[in-house]
Amino acid sequence: MSAFAHSRRILLTSRRIPLFTPLILLLIFALVFKYYTPTDTVSFISSFSSSQRIITSRPATFESDGGFWPSFAPLLAAAAPRVEAPEVTEQVFTRHRPDPGSDYERQGNVLQWSDSAVASMKGAHEWFLTQMRSNPPKLQYTLNTRGIVTSGGGKYFPVLLVSLRMLRRTGSTLPVEIFLRNRDEYEELACEVLFKDLGAKCVILSEFVGTSKIQFNFEHYQIKSFGLLFSSFEEILFLDADNFPVYKPDDLFEAEVYKQRGMVLWPDYWQCTSSPYFNQVTGLDENALQDRPTIETGQMLVDKKKHADTLSLAGYYNAYGDKYFYRLLSQGGAGEGDKETFAAAALVLNNSFYTMSERPRPFGGGGEGPPVLQSNLAEDWLVSLENPNRDGKAPAATPFFVHASWPPKLNPKYIQRSERMWGPGVESEKTFGEDLELTVWSIMVDMACEDNVQFADWGDKEHGGLEEGVSICDQTLKNFQDMFPPVTEDHQIEEESDRGESNDTEESGRGGSNDTEESGGGETNDTEQQ
Ligand SMILES: *[C@@H]1O[C@H](CO)[C@@H](O)[C@H](O)[C@H]1NC(C)=O
Ligand SMILES: *[C@@H]1O[C@H](CO)[C@@H](O)[C@H](O)[C@H]1NC(C)=O
Ligand SMILES: *[C@@H]1O[C@H](CO)[C@@H](O)[C@H](O)[C@H]1NC(C)=O
Ligand SMILES: *[C@@H]1O[C@H](CO)[C@@H](O)[C@H](O)[C@H]1NC(C)=O
Repeated sequence: MSAFAHSRRILLTSRRIPLFTPLILLLIFALVFKYYTPTDTVSFISSFSSSQRIITSRPATFESDGGFWPSFAPLLAAAAPRVEAPEVTEQVFTRHRPDPGSDYERQGNVLQWSDSAVASMKGAHEWFLTQMRSNPPKLQYTLNTRGIVTSGGGKYFPVLLVSLRMLRRTGSTLPVEIFLRNRDEYEELACEVLFKDLGAKCVILSEFVGTSKIQFNFEHYQIKSFGLLFSSFEEILFLDADNFPVYKPDDLFEAEVYKQRGMVLWPDYWQCTSSPYFNQVTGLDENALQDRPTIETGQMLVDKKKHADTLSLAGYYNAYGDKYFYRLLSQGGAGEGDKETFAAAALVLNNSFYTMSERPRPFGGGGEGPPVLQSNLAEDWLVSLENPNRDGKAPAATPFFVHASWPPKLNPKYIQRSERMWGPGVESEKTFGEDLELTVWSIMVDMACEDNVQFADWGDKEHGGLEEGVSICDQTLKNFQDMFPPVTEDHQIEEESDRGESNDTEESGRGGSNDTEESGGGETNDTEQQ
């Protein structure tokens, strides 16, 4: 990468915890030990002290005062829920979000919870907010940096390689940090070769959050929120491993509305299904969530200097998401997880942010689980200024992200398919200037067939296909040939070199020409397709 690299040091000397009298400290630690079960015991200090190379988008000095986590972890632990989790008593309705301004039925409460539980939870939440206000969390990041944060590991690594190769095709030079749950998810080939060559670095979350005194073990949905908190970037585009931009995402940070508000969220299909208990616990206005779109956090844009408190409060909601806040925010509804925590935190804190007005769209129409298309920010904002409810007169904003989130996702090992899934190639060409499904599958063939690509998830690549004894390469080639039969394919294998390393290749292959590239755009030699 042409990006600059430098070392990050965490200075652990002269650490002190201000504002806590020894008495309060004692109380907190007593509570922590009473209610917290230690899990992973990797030492945060010894393993993340030096030799962490963080690629940054420009030269910068890392400023450390030594202590986001050492002061934040005790707050998180001390504000832990001390009550039974609420029970879901019936299923909520999964409904598409109604048009703004139209009449609709709001989702009622389906949780069962005692008054004393609500009161206790409210007390913990209030205490946490008071602490945050009197001693605002100081996030640690490298000043003046922008980058992409994602999470991966296991079966998400192959998917992530597809996404990163698609990312670099756009000409993006943003550095990438990949958060892994723990050291077990670290794969040397993937992290040190495949991803590194694409300007991405593996970061192990457990080495930040497993201190010797207070242990947290974050997983699944929680990794997103803590990846944002621990990333070395000041301004972040978060992308799920199975989500890629079709256009250069570096420009998103220049959008006026992002610069003003510092956080942009993209909406989900569904109507909100939050419980009024969330409002009682947090003091949020009755319908503040119910009258908003739900959020699809496959992509998020956030400026940490403007939203340190939003991210910290979202961290609290995620730390106790599984049985508590996720449930309060979704009541078991579609996609329950971290998705609503960021908007909820910003609303509770009355921090400004922007939610895209353009709705998500399924790529290629109906059927089971087409990818979700999310739109271009700058275009959306221009329309919203004039037409905030986006009525029939609003021109559709261009799709920008392709979030292929439905199983089996884009992992060559698990897909057996004979037909296209993302609609006709000509439609894709009309929208994107290229047949995106063909491009993505070309990358999958490359990965599956390049000798130097291997993931733990694939096991024996030579025999690891879904059918007994079939190689992942042969399986993927067969899919490719069936999905894109020769009649319609006119494309040739192109010698593409070093896409994404510089800005001079970014637009090639766009614009409706018929020379769609076959090579995946990796750093490796091109592999034969057929
Ligand atoms: C929220 O912030 C806006 C300005 O951004 C302000 O006008 C309003 O009074 C605030 N509301 C509360 C409840 O603090
Ligand atoms: C490409 O980058 C160089 C410097 O890295 C810059 O001078 C040039 O203007 C860029 N070209 C385009 C088309 O962005
Ligand atoms: C596709 O390629 C053929 C031959 O290379 C050329 O004649 C034709 O004009 C091209 N079509 C488009 C749409 O570029
Ligand atoms: C790429 O091909 C060249 C020439 O065929 C060969 O020397 C080189 O080792 C190859 N590199 C990789 C990474 O396979």
